Amino acid sequence: MGADAGPERLAEGYRAFSEESAAEAPVYSALAAAVAGDRELLDFLTALPAGKRHPTLFLAALRFLGGVPADGAELRERVVSDAGRLRDTILARRTQTNEPARCAALLPALAMIGGPLALVEVGAAAGLCLYPDRYGYEYDGRPLGPPGPVRLRCTTSGPVPVPAQLPEVVARIGVDLDPLDVTDPDDRAWLRALVWPGPVEDERLARLDAAAAVAAQDPPVLLAGDLLDRLPDALALVPAGATPVVLHTAVLPYVGAARRAAFVERVRSLPVRWVAQEGAGMVPGTGQPFPGGWGPYLVLSLDGRPLAHTAPHGGRVDWLG
Ligand SMILES: C[S@@+](CC[C@H](N)C(=O)[O-])C[C@H]1O[C@@H](n2cnc3c(N)ncnc32)[C@H](O)[C@@H]1O
Repeated sequence: MGADAGPERLAEGYRAFSEESAAEAPVYSALAAAVAGDRELLDFLTALPAGKRHPTLFLAALRFLGGVPADGAELRERVVSDAGRLRDTILARRTQTNEPARCAALLPALAMIGGPLALVEVGAAAGLCLYPDRYGYEYDGRPLGPPGPVRLRCTTSGPVPVPAQLPEVVARIGVDLDPLDVTDPDDRAWLRALVWPGPVEDERLARLDAAAAVAAQDPPVLLAGDLLDRLPDALALVPAGATPVVLHTAVLPYVGAARRAAFVERVRSLPVRWVAQEGAGMVPGTGQPFPGGWGPYLVLSLDGRPLAHTAPHGGRVDWLG
């Protein structure tokens, strides 16, 4: 759905999304199929800039403005009657799904690093993955960490080194093209709008709200800008005596190949530890990339070495070898 995407290519993309989202979000699957068959809606999307036509962003913007359309007819009516506001929202926002449950996948890698830790997360969205020490966990039913409203459940296979205690985190620093502020009601609403409607929606929204409340009590430092440009500024904020950990999860597929390679080279050249949870192959040496960068799992790596395959939202960790 890039710069050259005409209505026919967009229709193909929406049909593919419809198939891929059928289990997780049946309503979105039906809505995307309706868009794929509607020339006027495809023309609305085609007129948007490249990078702004994806179903996830389009459907989140509709949800943000007036809830999830019940069916294709309501979606069409809302696009036609509210095209200006919808277009403005799509232009102003980006896909920034912030899933704190990814901390359950990150934790075993973080626990392998000597602390105290200064987390520097690039592509942080609202920074909800910067609080791995503040959430409670259940690995295969075994509790870990503080009791409280954020309970991250995770099933494992293989010798996952689940730590006996949580790491000490002394700095939470993020970089994002467009940081979201958990204390801002509009940004909170956008984070909620990005959660797909479906069987796990209620659980995800409750987790998001609870994690946002944790972050709001002690907000992270978030720098606006590109991950490569702002990395030095972010690292300059690391306090003396802390181990700097560059961290990213579900970000690199959004970054062009040349920029991604430059980022990887830069991180490798720095005296930092590096934890990534990304699509296969996004970090070199972590497998063959899936089309578009996304696949059925994300690869957890430490300093470029693959450690585990993890569920995209963190609910499962399969340790490698
Ligand atoms: C899918 S979200 C993931 C957010 C968070 N890491 C998580 O896993 O919950 C991707 C984030 O990366 C950010 N992003 C994409 N390209 C970026 C870039 N070049 N520099 C900084 N941030 C970027 C987006 O704005 C978005 O907030």
